[in-house]
Amino acid sequence: MTRIPFVDLKRQYAPIMNEILEKTGMTISSCRFIGGEELDAFCRELAHWWGTSGAVGVSSGTLGLYAALKVFGVGPGHEVITTAHTAIPTSEAVTMTGARVVFCDIDPETYVIDPDKITSLINSRTRAIIPVHLYGHPADMDRIMDIARRYDLFVIEDCAQSQGAKYLDGKAGSIGHAGVLSFFPSKNLGCIGDGGAVTAASSDILENIRMFCNHGRREKYDHQFEGTNTRLDNVKAAMLRTALPHLDRWNEMRQMAARWYRERLEGLSEIILPRSDKKCTHVYHLFVIQARDREVLSAKLKEQGVQTGLHYPCSLNLLPAYRYLDKGPGSFPVAEKVCSRVLSLPMFPGITEDEVDVVCSTLKKIYA
Ligand SMILES: Cc1ncc(COP(=O)(O)O)c(C=O)c1O
Repeated sequence: MTRIPFVDLKRQYAPIMNEILEKTGMTISSCRFIGGEELDAFCRELAHWWGTSGAVGVSSGTLGLYAALKVFGVGPGHEVITTAHTAIPTSEAVTMTGARVVFCDIDPETYVIDPDKITSLINSRTRAIIPVHLYGHPADMDRIMDIARRYDLFVIEDCAQSQGAKYLDGKAGSIGHAGVLSFFPSKNLGCIGDGGAVTAASSDILENIRMFCNHGRREKYDHQFEGTNTRLDNVKAAMLRTALPHLDRWNEMRQMAARWYRERLEGLSEIILPRSDKKCTHVYHLFVIQARDREVLSAKLKEQGVQTGLHYPCSLNLLPAYRYLDKGPGSFPVAEKVCSRVLSLPMFPGITEDEVDVVCSTLKKIYA
């Protein structure tokens, strides 16, 4: 029997479920399903919260990354550098454009792309870098932007896991040339299904992304170029509008849970706790520890009713999908080692101190 779930969306949404049902119900009754007031208002409110000049709602984070890459002109013959330790959508979006993905190793402490290892991967085909703010911890944006300026590259921040995270004073996604959010239901800001949003530093680029996601059209039948259909629905926007005002508080609840974990697990020699760079504000989409024997640990926790997750069990270069890149074991030693040890502990807004206590005492008993 599960005593402590890994994620509990019902608990997170319970206080606002009636409001969500009312707002989405009204939007459904209006029969404005594609585009509409809720979508326009959500994009304005999201941009205000994000500290960006605008935002475009898209149908998923994956397609938001794809749209941004396409609008920056990335395509066949080009290369895009990203981390070997991420969810596959990051690299899929690159391949979808016809460009080649080039993986980079990670920082052993923060698990995000290691800026020291980027420069040696750049050549005349390189067009962009996609730093992924993994688990809710931003990548080293100053150094990445510096490299991008030196080599004339675009930076598209993958913020799927980092809504509200900050690098110095800037919110993740507002620092690069473009930033992409995912509203997959379990993300820090989740939706009633798939969804995402894109922002861009240049208003022209943002307008082109908006058009790309809506068949390249400016107005009805005024197609400036071919794009695709990857819009955020009006009903989903109504739900997201209801949830957005709660995001900062939900992030604080995640940060509080992370503190409870640290207080109880600090000093336990069998595991490594997540670290946070002083320049960054971590929003703990996931609370990921490293354990040498993580399969045994996760099985024993499960026996005791504690659910865990794996993000991600294998660095992307070792997946069958990327065999063609010929980057076998040992190509990205840090990412490969980290992936073999990571284990995500229960983390969601609303997890109680007692529950964190149970997770930690169960973990300690297992090692005792
Ligand atoms: C790091 C990362 N990038 C991109 C995505 C893609 O987002 P979506 O599921 O909305 O397509 C995800 C979500 O799983 C993710 O975790």
